[in-house]
Amino acid sequence: MHESINRLMRPKAIAVVGASAQPGKIGYTVVKNIIESGYKGEVYPINPSTPEILGLKCYPSVLDVPGEIDAAVITVPAKFTPEVVESCGKKGISGLVIITSGFSEVGDRALEDQIVQIAQHYGSRILGPNIVGYLSNSDHLNASFAPFLPLNGKASLVSQSGALLIAIDASSYLRHVGFDKLVSIGNMSDIDFADNIRWLNDDPNTTCISLYIEGFKDGRAFIEACQAAKKPIIALKAGVSAHGAAAAASHTGSLAGAVKVYGAAFQQAGVIQATDLDNLFDRTLALSMQPPMNGDNMLIITNGGGVGVLATDAAEKYGLPLKFTPNELQAEMKKYMPDYGSAKNPIDMTGMAGNEWYGDTVRNSFGNSWVDGLCVLYCETAITNPLEIAKSIKQAVDDSGVTAKPITCSFVGGERSAEAMTFLVENGIPAYGAPDHAVNALGALREYARMQELMAEPITSCPPVSRERALEVIDQARADGRNALTEIEAKEVFAAYGLQVTSTVLAKTEAEAVKLAKEIGFPVVMKIVSPDILHKSDAGGVKVNIKDEEGVREAYRTIMTNSLKYKSGANIHGIAVQEMAPWGTEVILGSINDPTFGPTIMFGLGGIFVEVLKDVTFRVAPVATNQALRMLTEIRGAPILAGVRGEKPRDREALANTICMYSTMILDLQDEISESDANPVLVYEEGRGVKVVDARIILKKK
Ligand code: ACO
Repeated sequence: MHESINRLMRPKAIAVVGASAQPGKIGYTVVKNIIESGYKGEVYPINPSTPEILGLKCYPSVLDVPGEIDAAVITVPAKFTPEVVESCGKKGISGLVIITSGFSEVGDRALEDQIVQIAQHYGSRILGPNIVGYLSNSDHLNASFAPFLPLNGKASLVSQSGALLIAIDASSYLRHVGFDKLVSIGNMSDIDFADNIRWLNDDPNTTCISLYIEGFKDGRAFIEACQAAKKPIIALKAGVSAHGAAAAASHTGSLAGAVKVYGAAFQQAGVIQATDLDNLFDRTLALSMQPPMNGDNMLIITNGGGVGVLATDAAEKYGLPLKFTPNELQAEMKKYMPDYGSAKNPIDMTGMAGNEWYGDTVRNSFGNSWVDGLCVLYCETAITNPLEIAKSIKQAVDDSGVTAKPITCSFVGGERSAEAMTFLVENGIPAYGAPDHAVNALGALREYARMQELMAEPITSCPPVSRERALEVIDQARADGRNALTEIEAKEVFAAYGLQVTSTVLAKTEAEAVKLAKEIGFPVVMKIVSPDILHKSDAGGVKVNIKDEEGVREAYRTIMTNSLKYKSGANIHGIAVQEMAPWGTEVILGSINDPTFGPTIMFGLGGIFVEVLKDVTFRVAPVATNQALRMLTEIRGAPILAGVRGEKPRDREALANTICMYSTMILDLQDEISESDANPVLVYEEGRGVKVVDARIILKKK
């Protein structure tokens, strides 16, 4: 698999099928680009009616080419692609770069499937169709119709949008962000993000993988490829607004949206996110040039208080809140500034700071064991020369001998500052026009280090399950022609996967309800059980804190009357009598079967927190107990679980275990369960566990 992509991306001989002698045509531009980019291998233009293109001999078909061909760039109209893919297969070409549009993106899925099938038959791999092509600085190869190779650098970008790739190509020079490879993947009929990530992970010329994503076909393959990668991966995800929440039958379904589910998946995959295109450039620059930041201590060095304050604000925002420098470092830094400077952090050398002070502070702080990362700020003044300052910083970094810690810079000023930043970037130090961008970039390097720590954590799983019992309950509901399980059934399924549920039994008569209530022990809760009434409280179908036999009789009659009034003719199974669980902190767990990532679990605080504040967090199943513990810290209401106002901490371990079991259940039953909620789940004091009080499961339609 890898070998065919290798031949495609790094061919020794390349054909352009649909090559043209007419300037302006894509088939002409691709041949011209390949030649002009300095490609060292053989180039074979293919066109049945032209003898020569741009001085190269043209062949009627790839089958007429005498030598071996590794890759073919295809620029013939869509209707001719099946025959071209066929001839490429016969020729043994393993890499097909199909620039042509007119496939699934315009609704012609059949044509796309056809070319994939032909390619598979011959063991060829397809990049595209509907792409710009790909570009590689280290291979001196522009196999695309983008104008030129990008600014040379160590990042490689994979883009689902061809137009954006062309724009990034051109703006790489303006922004001074260099790339080794730009790969357009278009419709991803075959080679997808996961394939590219695996390949780029082994590419010695790529230090950071940058992605522009609109959507995946197989979200789980993406997660796995990222988890296995040993390089930073940064993603800009577009199209997060119109997804997911439509037609949800559960609470969780209505709260799940692309932003949250993709965000969760990126976190599990160890992928750093970019907020917009500028941010993608900024972070890519830092991640491609600098090592991860292996601790939280950022030291800011500046000649201006204002930019120092802006950077301090940004530090808080990007997860690197500033700390004061230790005394010995302060004493050292004081040597390189006037009395009225500050060595606390930011190190403010004042506007007097020239080349020497910048050099001295950087040289004598970078290696200090307290410092985990350096952010050097400069405001252009009339008494200093930005380029000289930049050179001084670079020299000081070299003198310090530090290579395992990151540094970013911000030069705020005019053209002279821009020139200084170009110098820095060309010398491996990311530099930005605004202080918050420099801090954000350092934040990305800190995030990467944290992600690496998370990926290295051992996985702690949860106990085994009883799948058969769950399937029995589900099969029974299906046999009754139902897609919604009753609360009692849903709890049985939950219990089969080890979740603690309140004991709940079905009473079909008033007398039976009395008998069961006595067996459970007062007080009890009574609830209507009807597949036609999902929102039981709205129907007046729930009574709580029933203390005696008389109360049971009265509740039975009231619930029946209310329910039939709410929905006349409803199919009523009876009334559930259940133990009244003691008070605990209410949380909600739930699941959806996400179209991209499959079974996905949600956790949040219950009641008003979920209803109004939508304070929830997601993970793609399965979720190990240690990952679940992290979920508990992600919501705004996390302190409530930790214990506030003198209350004891809640049993977070039992809750994390429950999340783990729940995630096992939705993964194991992914062919059965469409959506589910456990709401509320009551969480008790540490050591006292949790209890699922209400449960809902909606089955997939079969
Ligand atoms: N073998 C070899 N050559 C062939 C074959 C064949 N089987 N069939 C046709 N050709 C030749 C044609 O004769 C022609 O050569 P000529 O100029 O000597 O006559 C050449 O292939 C191209 O064929 P044309 O019919 O002239 O097609 P044209 O160049 O106008 O368009 C193209 C072809 C570019 C593939 C077009 O169909 C297309 O898909 N354009 C969109 C490309 C695109 O935008 N991709 C997505 C990028 S992402 C983004 O949004 C930027």
